[in-house]
Amino acid sequence: MSDDTLFAEVLDPGNRADPYPIYARFRRNPVTRQRDGAYVVSTHAAIRSLIFDPRLSSQDLPPSRRPRTGNPLRDWILNPIKNRVANGHRPLIFRDPPDHDTLRGFVMKEFTIHRVNGLHQRVVSHVDKLIEACRGRDKVCLVEDLSYPLPVAIICELLGVPEKDEPQFHDWATRLATALEPDARRDEDTRRVTVTTFDAIAAYMRGLIREKRRHPADDMLSGLARRGTPDQPAMGDVDLISTAVLLLVAGHETTVNLITNGMLTLLRHPDELARLKADPERAPQLIEELLRFEPPVHFRTRKALGEIEIAGTTIPKGAPVILLFAAGNRDPERFTDPDRFDPDRDDVQHFGFGGGLHYCVGAPLARIEAEIALVRLCQRLRQPSLLADPPPYRPGASLRGPQNLGIRIAGIV
Ligand code: HEM
Repeated sequence: MSDDTLFAEVLDPGNRADPYPIYARFRRNPVTRQRDGAYVVSTHAAIRSLIFDPRLSSQDLPPSRRPRTGNPLRDWILNPIKNRVANGHRPLIFRDPPDHDTLRGFVMKEFTIHRVNGLHQRVVSHVDKLIEACRGRDKVCLVEDLSYPLPVAIICELLGVPEKDEPQFHDWATRLATALEPDARRDEDTRRVTVTTFDAIAAYMRGLIREKRRHPADDMLSGLARRGTPDQPAMGDVDLISTAVLLLVAGHETTVNLITNGMLTLLRHPDELARLKADPERAPQLIEELLRFEPPVHFRTRKALGEIEIAGTTIPKGAPVILLFAAGNRDPERFTDPDRFDPDRDDVQHFGFGGGLHYCVGAPLARIEAEIALVRLCQRLRQPSLLADPPPYRPGASLRGPQNLGIRIAGIV
């Protein structure tokens, strides 16, 4: 089925505050062809079947191309080498098996539940410190005051980035925030910033990896940087750097959005806010409903490796495929009353963390951060209310979230 312009409406920043009516129009057909030849998949059943389909490839990034600098040595020798290295060592989110599985295996060995649970207390103290810093004010700007700084601080702890270098990481994270955004790939200026930032972070990481090898500590980077042996192979240095950058990027903007969308949703549903405040044990089920109702990642792109027949449509080999997770999450064929925020639903199989081979490796950490942040905000902000509804949104259509969330408060408990 063809509707050649509907996805342009999804990308239109004017529709950022409420894209759900557009998703409902998409769902009239499980798969919709766009004018540029991309196929948008929007029903829960169709997304679910394709997300496990090995004929869909995640290797859909355009080749790395550093912008011209005017320096012949750089333009003709150094940068082409760097481009070739980058193309051969894409982060695992953009790789297919077998390379994807090998790299993911190394990460999973280090990203253990034990390590994530070990961060619990640190998350509590970071959240409390950030809330405490708002004391004396009658307004909280949630993104800059809490949602933004928290995930970077936690990823730095997880990786083992020294505290003194954290501000530099904040800066890089801000500049790389849109690197996973498919619309950003087309924009030359964004690509330039991404490449320059990636080079800076890669140089820093090389030094830090050397340091971790000299003085291993109980952190993820020390584990990943361990030298390989014939029995126990290890990740190569270039993959290690791209993995570390991926963890920073994939775990940042997404967690910012989950916390901010979470508070926005709770302030729009004050009864749920009151229930969470009185009973923090409700947090895990509330977060799952949030990941369905207002997911931080609205869609991901793939490429068809072969012809795929699905729900009466043939996706041709080589076609770009857009998995519209956020539309599947509100499919009335799958969820009763899908546009209602209802943390009490007992069946909430959402695509908030994707699914299949590329299912989010950071899901347990993201859940912990969001649970602690939302519970503490509900408990500690006195009489919170929204300053603007809807709030302003950032331009990104895939990693969708408020630019900021102004909350009026009567004080801090
Ligand atoms: C609320 C927060 C988060 C959300 C909503 C989220 C969402 C997602 C989604 C939808 C995918 C699947 C991508 C695809 O299918 O192409 C994914 C993959 C991934 N996420 Fe997350 N994520 C979050 C937090 C994190 C954190 C905290 C980390 C790490 C520190 C992380 C690391 C990753 C990585 C490495 C992948 C790629 C996995 C693979 O390709 O095998 N994410 N995430």
